[in-house]
Amino acid sequence: MLTRLQSVAIIVCLVYVPQLASAHSRRLALNKRNLTSTNIDSLRRLSISMQPLETRIALYDGIVLSCQVTGRPNPTIHWLKNGERVQQGTSLDVQGDAAFENAAGNDQSRLQLAIVKSKLYIDCITEETEYTCVGETPLARVNQSQRVFIDPLPGSSRHECSQPNDEKPARIYMTTETQMDYDGDTAQLYCRAEGKPTPTITWYSSNNQSITIVGGYRIANNGDLIILNPTWKNHLDRFTCKADNGVGSDTAQSFFYPTRRD
Ligand SMILES: *[C@@H]1O[C@H](CO)[C@@H](O)[C@H](O)[C@H]1NC(C)=O
Ligand SMILES: *[C@@H]1O[C@H](CO)[C@@H](O)[C@H](O)[C@H]1NC(C)=O
Ligand SMILES: *[C@@H]1O[C@H](CO)[C@@H](O)[C@H](O)[C@H]1NC(C)=O
Repeated sequence: MLTRLQSVAIIVCLVYVPQLASAHSRRLALNKRNLTSTNIDSLRRLSISMQPLETRIALYDGIVLSCQVTGRPNPTIHWLKNGERVQQGTSLDVQGDAAFENAAGNDQSRLQLAIVKSKLYIDCITEETEYTCVGETPLARVNQSQRVFIDPLPGSSRHECSQPNDEKPARIYMTTETQMDYDGDTAQLYCRAEGKPTPTITWYSSNNQSITIVGGYRIANNGDLIILNPTWKNHLDRFTCKADNGVGSDTAQSFFYPTRRD
């Protein structure tokens, strides 16, 4: 069985080596063989990645922006459109979104190291817009912006934005891509979806078994998977979240890595 530091080193490699662009990340990657508690603490500084910084699309076209934030405790992601918060999903309480995962957020004894991904679905663009991805924990905040320009050349076959439809397919907008927690610490994997009607969330373990029929898990009202008493032996797994609302469905995968506290 791997020790805590070996496990963290693996995750630091997985998480940081693909992101050598930032100096902070490079330092962490180079330090991976001498991972002290100081290094683990430095993961409280969030790292964000969103590419590219500028996009051009045709008038009335759609685009999906994607953003990734890494750090601990597990960050949440939201978006700003020209500085104003974008409402995603059905949660009307912007603060409430983060309530559960942040409850234990200041507990230094927890690992809660996560790579979180968020998508912003823009269905029809009408003007040049700046979109900002914001990643945050109770301890840190990070952001990056992407400007979407209107390409003057004709491209879209559409001549206007269609009227808001009564129905919208289920789309997952925030997921945990990878998460590490210590054995025994309640863990939370995100699966936040939007759509009309409100999507139903189902989680599956890697053997395709629906989580609802297995003990030891709970699915939160917002769709997140709560793993009550994770152990390396029983819960190291790739979980699949499926959002479905009858109009359309979407899936996402989360890799969960419980590790021994030693
Ligand atoms: C590991 O890091 C600690 C603290 O920064 C340092 O004291 C120690 O010498 C380092 N060990 C090695 C093998 O580099
Ligand atoms: C984004 O980050 C910059 C640099 O840290 C900061 O000055 C700015 O206030 C942040 N913006 C938002 C919306 O958080
Ligand atoms: C789970 O389902 C997927 C898609 O339906 C399939 O490709 C995969 O082989 C299944 N895995 C197991 C272990 O049954």
